[in-house]
Amino acid sequence: MTLRWPLPRQDYWSTPFAEALLHHLALFPGATILDIASGDGIPAFYLAEQVGPTGQVLGIDSSEHQIARGRAIQGPHLPWLRFECLDMRALPPRVPTFDRITGNLSVMFFRPNRFETVRGLVDHLKPGGQLVQTFPSLGTFDSLWRRIDQEMATRGLTAERQHLGAYVAERPSAQEGRAWLDALGLERIEVTEWPLEVPTGPGPSFLHHPLLRGGFLDDVYECFEDQRLADEVMKRVSEDVPGFTPLMAQRCVLSGWKKEGE
Ligand SMILES: C[S@@+](CC[C@H](N)C(=O)[O-])C[C@H]1O[C@@H](n2cnc3c(N)ncnc32)[C@H](O)[C@@H]1O
Repeated sequence: MTLRWPLPRQDYWSTPFAEALLHHLALFPGATILDIASGDGIPAFYLAEQVGPTGQVLGIDSSEHQIARGRAIQGPHLPWLRFECLDMRALPPRVPTFDRITGNLSVMFFRPNRFETVRGLVDHLKPGGQLVQTFPSLGTFDSLWRRIDQEMATRGLTAERQHLGAYVAERPSAQEGRAWLDALGLERIEVTEWPLEVPTGPGPSFLHHPLLRGGFLDDVYECFEDQRLADEVMKRVSEDVPGFTPLMAQRCVLSGWKKEGE
């Protein structure tokens, strides 16, 4: 079958995570799916095409802007797919239960109480249903954090090092994810980390890398009170790209099944 709604080929972050998610997801025609943190539709469009008109996909995101983008891309197509602006951490009781709950690049936004968020999601899973979530787990870009920490240490930046350490440690681990699913009594739990290399060149191509700058390096800048100092440290780090590449992310997939009859 030729896919009309494949995952975007040029995307070097969402798509590889979604591919890992799909590897673990058991799909069937007619399935009902809640896709959380749906953004503008990765992988909601793909899922909707797979479940077909007898199924239903509800993509939810807390950003009105993302929901509007998803609806604009959708136009009149796949009418069994809907986008709605909702907070995945507090689903209203009117939201029904689903055969599958997916979420690509979702878990890092389950803060502040990630376990409670997962519990709330499992409440919206039908008995025998599957939860599959992905996120970049602890270990992602470790070589970069080590290099930045080394540069901070050389300059005696104690407070900045502490902030960086706290930022890195806040990232959820695969083990933590497994513990949530275990504690909620899910069955056939699979927690897998798929390595992904994120290529980067030196200097400006590192400092202005569209993925790194938006989601990760900005967080490093926040570890500094003095932004000129941050610029200095990061410029030095950017000149040493061979010292911390290959830059590896861990695409963690959490998958588990709700017991039949629960
Ligand atoms: C990294 S994007 C992933 C989007 C899409 N799934 C993809 O793979 O491209 C994370 C999305 O989570 C959304 N998000 C963050 N916090 C949320 C929350 N509490 N409830 C629902 N969506 C949330 C953001 O608006 C953003 O669109």
